[in-house]
Amino acid sequence: MKLCREPSRFMIVLLLTSSIPAAVSSQASTIDQRIDELLSRMTLDEKVGQLVQYPGYSEDRAQAIREGKIGSFLNVPGAENSNQVQRIAVEESRLGIPLIFGLDVIHGFRTIFPIPLATASSWDPELVTAIEAIAAREARASGVHWTFAPMVDIARDARWGRISEGAGEDPYLGSAMAAARVRGFQGDDLTAADRIMACLKHYVAYGQPVGGRDYNSVDMSERSLREIYLPPFKAGADAGAASLMSAFNLLNGVPTTANKFTLNQILRGEWGFEGFIVSDWNSVGELVQHGYAGDAADAARLALNATIDLDMASGIYDGQLADLVRANVIPEELLDQSVRRVLRAKFMLGLFDNPYVDPETETAAILRDDHVAAARDAARKSMVLLKNDGALLPLSEDIGSIAVIGPLADNQVDLLGSWHAMGQPEDVVTVLAGIQSRAAPTTTITYAQGSTITGAETDGFAEAVAAARDADVAIVVVGEREYETGEGASRTALDLPGVQPALIEAVHETGTPVVAVIMSGRPLTIPWLAENVPAILQAWHPGIQGGNAVADLLWGDYNPSGKLTASFPRSVGQIPIYYARDITGRPGTDFKYTSRYIDSPDTPLYPFGYGLSYTTFEYGDLTLSADTITVNDTLTVSATVSNTGDVAGAEVVQLYIRDPVASVVRPVKELKGFTKIYLEPGEQQTVQFTLRARELGFFDQEMLWAIEPGVFNVWVGWSSDEGLEGSFVLSGN
Ligand code: GLC
Repeated sequence: MKLCREPSRFMIVLLLTSSIPAAVSSQASTIDQRIDELLSRMTLDEKVGQLVQYPGYSEDRAQAIREGKIGSFLNVPGAENSNQVQRIAVEESRLGIPLIFGLDVIHGFRTIFPIPLATASSWDPELVTAIEAIAAREARASGVHWTFAPMVDIARDARWGRISEGAGEDPYLGSAMAAARVRGFQGDDLTAADRIMACLKHYVAYGQPVGGRDYNSVDMSERSLREIYLPPFKAGADAGAASLMSAFNLLNGVPTTANKFTLNQILRGEWGFEGFIVSDWNSVGELVQHGYAGDAADAARLALNATIDLDMASGIYDGQLADLVRANVIPEELLDQSVRRVLRAKFMLGLFDNPYVDPETETAAILRDDHVAAARDAARKSMVLLKNDGALLPLSEDIGSIAVIGPLADNQVDLLGSWHAMGQPEDVVTVLAGIQSRAAPTTTITYAQGSTITGAETDGFAEAVAAARDADVAIVVVGEREYETGEGASRTALDLPGVQPALIEAVHETGTPVVAVIMSGRPLTIPWLAENVPAILQAWHPGIQGGNAVADLLWGDYNPSGKLTASFPRSVGQIPIYYARDITGRPGTDFKYTSRYIDSPDTPLYPFGYGLSYTTFEYGDLTLSADTITVNDTLTVSATVSNTGDVAGAEVVQLYIRDPVASVVRPVKELKGFTKIYLEPGEQQTVQFTLRARELGFFDQEMLWAIEPGVFNVWVGWSSDEGLEGSFVLSGN
């Protein structure tokens, strides 16, 4: 029996659009009046020009700008650069419509923060908002108006290099991070000199390509789409994201850059999204390559009909749209709608009134001390302590000698991570430097690179082994090159690249205790490390303050608090692997004929939500405000958390549910809440979650949101696989 069904989606759109606050609507009418006035004076070519974006400026583009045939550039950072190009548009074109400049400010502009998968592992939305606001301040001061971020693609396949750019496998956490990043970039006023427009990408389901191979096809049920891959986009849109980027991939056979179901029906229709949509790089042109458009003109028609407003880099809108309108293949009204959305963004950014930036502002903003301090704080809070046998960490103040080993120990460029915008390697504090500056003067520190990251040479091993043999502890810093992650960086194996595994084994054989520090853009398969090395710190690509942050954690100046947001597989053969899995009709046991592998446990090496601390936390007193609730009720779920160790620390308390019997089988667990608390030794806190019955729902077999009565399981835990369990009943009346 369905308790509650979603009213028609049309009703929801009516409710949403009628609820725009008066203040916004009055501003909107002012902007709309200015758009109407401008539009009435624009020629067809000038209208098309607003929908054209090219990468990088060169002199041969100047005349097109004067003729109003280009509306945007990406990759023109720098106050002087952007002012120079902007002057052509504003002072030398007929209508003086300003350009909008975009850039991939993915985890910082010049102050580079840890990669997004790292900062998501902080489980701290406020932290994420704060660092995106810093990125926005530096970017806007440098003449960038718009970032192609946040990337909000859910990813459950670490072979896909772009898992580094998002928040991992879970839609609830991914939604919280999407909204937090939008708030950080945009703030409350896009005309402000320290805010930039956000762009939700890559719409949609780009993160689940077949084979984990970038740009490959995606095939999934509408339910998976709506329950897993769309929610972070909806959260970002609800947070006010002013733009969105379509993706490269097919979704169920239709390119996402021309997909009327996801773009027109869901995004524009059900959600009422009024921002503008930019295609990903040449993805309009790739409609032909996909075999979806017969030629460039067809591609232009299909994309514009799917409300793709701005054509990034393909030149197809530039070359085709005016002719298609003149031939009545495309109604001019459709073109006008896209032009309006782009012009609205430019008005919202204040570009018509203030098109230029002050180079002095740029100089003052870049790498400010507080920005650099924030980068260190973010890196510390993003790292995840995976193992710490025998409390090897934190290191003692009076440790006698430390061997710092590995190809990422004295490395700067790779700590920046992929998509590091204007980040400079010389800004990076290496792990070696961080350790050298943190260790006591009496501590002897030796360094041996040992190997390269990807090469096969082992001639450096002897020096590394010798260094380790003479030391009290060996800090071995390994991982991936920054270009081995991010776009176009799919891998078929997830082992530490090159001979790094052999290097660690050689160092381990000396008997000196090893701390493995892993710098990667994705979960790697590290079963040997997990088995043999006493301490493992997942540091990700930690940004410009990575070395200091690692040192902060090694000595316990900061107690590790990160938790994984992407499951670590034991082997690549387990992929896709995620905690919110189905139980199946034959849950895996030792019995042969169950859902299992015969050559590996079917559990992850480290699960979603997992991360250790230097202290211990004890959970107790799980309490539910009722045993039974109705669909109109909310349930309060609480538990006490105590710091039972002897150092202060932060803990991410997680709330999960399960609907064990339903008309569509539900996952064994779903995250429905989290909060990060800080406890002094001996301190106890009661953590409360409010669970609304609506959050227990799912898309039923008719693809309507259903909330079904019955027993529900609930957990308050410290990981997706451990916690206090309770249950309650959702009643049918
Ligand atoms: C790339 C990426 C996208 C990026 C854009 C502009 O191909 O897919 O994430 O924002 O081009 O650089």
